[in-house]
Amino acid sequence: MDISPQIAVIDFGSQYTQLIVRRLREAGYFAKLCHPDNFKQVPVPKGVILSGGPRSVSDEDAPDIDFDYLRGLGVPILGICYGMQLLNKKHGGRVEPGTTREYGPAEFRPEGDSVLFDKMSGSSQIWMSHSDTCTQLPEGAKVIGRNEEGVPVAIQLSENVFGIQFHPEVTHSHEGKVVIENFLSLVDDPPRFNMDSFKEILINSVRREVGEREVVCGVSGGVDSTVLAVLLDRAGVKLRAIYVDNGLMRMDETAEVVGQFKKLGIKLEVIDAGSRFLGAIAGIDDPEEKRRRIGNVFVDVFFDAADHVELLAQGTLYPDVIESATSGSIASTIKTHHNRVPRILELQEQGRVIEPLAELFKDEVRALGESFGIARDILYRHPFPGPGLGVRVPGEVTAAKLKIVREGDAIFMRHLKESGWYDKVWQAYCGLLPIKTVGVKGDERSYEWAVSLRAVTSEDAMTADWVEFPPELLRRISNEILNNVKGINRVFYDVSTKPPASIELE
Ligand code: XMP
Repeated sequence: MDISPQIAVIDFGSQYTQLIVRRLREAGYFAKLCHPDNFKQVPVPKGVILSGGPRSVSDEDAPDIDFDYLRGLGVPILGICYGMQLLNKKHGGRVEPGTTREYGPAEFRPEGDSVLFDKMSGSSQIWMSHSDTCTQLPEGAKVIGRNEEGVPVAIQLSENVFGIQFHPEVTHSHEGKVVIENFLSLVDDPPRFNMDSFKEILINSVRREVGEREVVCGVSGGVDSTVLAVLLDRAGVKLRAIYVDNGLMRMDETAEVVGQFKKLGIKLEVIDAGSRFLGAIAGIDDPEEKRRRIGNVFVDVFFDAADHVELLAQGTLYPDVIESATSGSIASTIKTHHNRVPRILELQEQGRVIEPLAELFKDEVRALGESFGIARDILYRHPFPGPGLGVRVPGEVTAAKLKIVREGDAIFMRHLKESGWYDKVWQAYCGLLPIKTVGVKGDERSYEWAVSLRAVTSEDAMTADWVEFPPELLRRISNEILNNVKGINRVFYDVSTKPPASIELE
């Protein structure tokens, strides 16, 4: 999808680059991340930000940029951290490796009256993460801010080219938002990014991209695929929305998804393939093998149902695109499992895959969903993995074990919703431990399964912490599960962080 960005953010690999894009969008500017090598292919932006990065500009193979092209644009430029050092070097200044890495809070004091620090206090906290330092400025450059030790941390290289050593995009830089707004005030383009305008752009671009072709879209009932299907539907293209019931869904989930789509006015083709999935993983207890089989059956069932796919729509989001382009992170591996199987790659090579949400962050997808009138329940659901309960029942998956997990999970979720905890946690579920332990029921000893409750907070699923529920809430949940779910005699609460544990049990 070709939407011209107002601001290009050149990605030198900092962990914060996505945050820069977010801050710019929050300020009303459509921003896009670009790789330094592809920068010239992006339609000419109205402002450029060079991100930070883990490398040193003195490294022989340090990421670089075509500076003549950049300068020739004549638009305001802001270099952050690595970006500042690169600008300093390119203008003829000197950058040297520091002896230690400066990381964390520092105090910032603006100097002179640079427009970049307009309306800022005389001193405020900034967030640093760097090791190189600009030891000599080029001719004509001036220092516009220092830290508490008097070391220059902000420079102005020409009328509209700036460099700052700190990260204005993180909230730990208390007045970072002001710095970004001041920079944007120099941009010769008004703020015009908001969900309503973006929705129109998206709808028009979907119409253009799809034309008369029929689009097939897989629906799971989760946020991304639901918003995707509604976007396609509202764009008025020929749509087939297919939902595969893999037999590994939660209690009443299929009926709920069907009901939701009915309310949204979209015809959903439901493929009941539970027995095919359960047959494929019967007797298998290796987690990777289970995943592989579930994935393969999904692709077979989906493409059999779709029959001939003229065009396939996928709910890939912006962070997935960035991650698969720049790193081999966990998130990109997850998507590899799902979206990058050979059959889909083949379609992609033939130009028959569209990813209309690929410009959006998760919260923007939710905002788009809200503007389409999609229920909050759907938009704020916890993430649910593609292989479903298959990754919540370690060891062999059987119908009896799935029944236990479904019942336990339904009780757990009901309590979380009633107590207001559901929206405070990133993800929560009930899984089954692959062990039987001894208990007593009435006068008899029992030898039964144990369930494990897990609830975590997280920013991005890469790291996670367990949730400290009030003990009486855990007690109520545990009692109800023990009294109502047949086949178990024990409830554990998982107090493992990720790492070293993962969120799912597998
Ligand atoms: P782990 O268990 O790796 O999970 O800590 C991290 C996040 O990813 C979700 N997850 C998946 N999502 N397909 C998905 O769409 C998958 O195969 C998959 N495996 C794990 C998990 O629920 C958690 O949010």
